[in-house]
Amino acid sequence: MRHLISPLDFSVEELDELLKLARDIEENPDKYAHACDRLKLATCFYEPSTRTRLSFEAAMLNLGGQVIGFSDAGSSSAAKGESVADTIRVISCYADICAIRHPKEGAALVASSRSLIPVINAGDGGHQHPTQTLTDLLTIYSLKGKLDGMTIGLCGDLKFGRTVHSLIRALVRYDNVRFVLISPDELKVPDYIKNDVLLENNIEFKEMIKLEDAIPEIDILYMTRVQKERFFNEEDYIRMKDFYILDAEKMKLASDDMLVLHPLPRVNEISVEVDKDPRAVYFKQAQYGVYVRMALILTLLKEAGKIC
Ligand code: CP
Repeated sequence: MRHLISPLDFSVEELDELLKLARDIEENPDKYAHACDRLKLATCFYEPSTRTRLSFEAAMLNLGGQVIGFSDAGSSSAAKGESVADTIRVISCYADICAIRHPKEGAALVASSRSLIPVINAGDGGHQHPTQTLTDLLTIYSLKGKLDGMTIGLCGDLKFGRTVHSLIRALVRYDNVRFVLISPDELKVPDYIKNDVLLENNIEFKEMIKLEDAIPEIDILYMTRVQKERFFNEEDYIRMKDFYILDAEKMKLASDDMLVLHPLPRVNEISVEVDKDPRAVYFKQAQYGVYVRMALILTLLKEAGKIC
């Protein structure tokens, strides 16, 4: 059974195929409108979500399928103490594919080990968020026409931001990608990403604190929210939460073709005035999330022999 737990579960060649399929879905939606007739997606969300859960649900509905699930662990039998392993074993009897989000790192992997249907990691704690990465890759590929030869600036909470960890892992597989890691000292990229991913693959990167100093050399600026829910105390969060605010003044320092991405939700880190700048593509990015999740559902269901 094929699952998607980490962004590295697909080879670069498989990712290329997936992105091409997503582009075809965007251009020819009618071709796919009945691809998943009579099939069901279960969305098991133990943590809050707007984009991931609803874009998965929209994706399955666009494919002609149906959706079941829960959006709050408190309304599931997790509240009575049921394990993720037991829950997924049961959901395998009700649905054909499952997207799971959980606050604990490794929960999706545990689920996949007990599941009889494909499991998609929709975010596990501060660890990984591979379908956000697919969304980010599709956004960059669609708007820049390539995934190689770029300087990627990652800004904000690089410690707890799982979207950042997954995106770095995915992008190091492309040629001539370099990173500018912009964060306060307390929110730097964890050492295991620096050592095991960046240094291990001889990837050029530098760490900076001031966004203004970094912005002129960046092709893709990936802004992130400070992850309030992963802080151990509120004082630290309050001290960090407005460390970066991208505004129209700072955008003047950027190149004309720099793109601003953000996995969303945004809090204060991008001023609303930036939304009208044509380089701000974070709402387009959310739309790409539907196409790429449609492509992913089709790919995994095909591998599971549920569709031809
Ligand atoms: N980008 C993202 O994961 O958003 P949600 O938390 O709303 O799903």
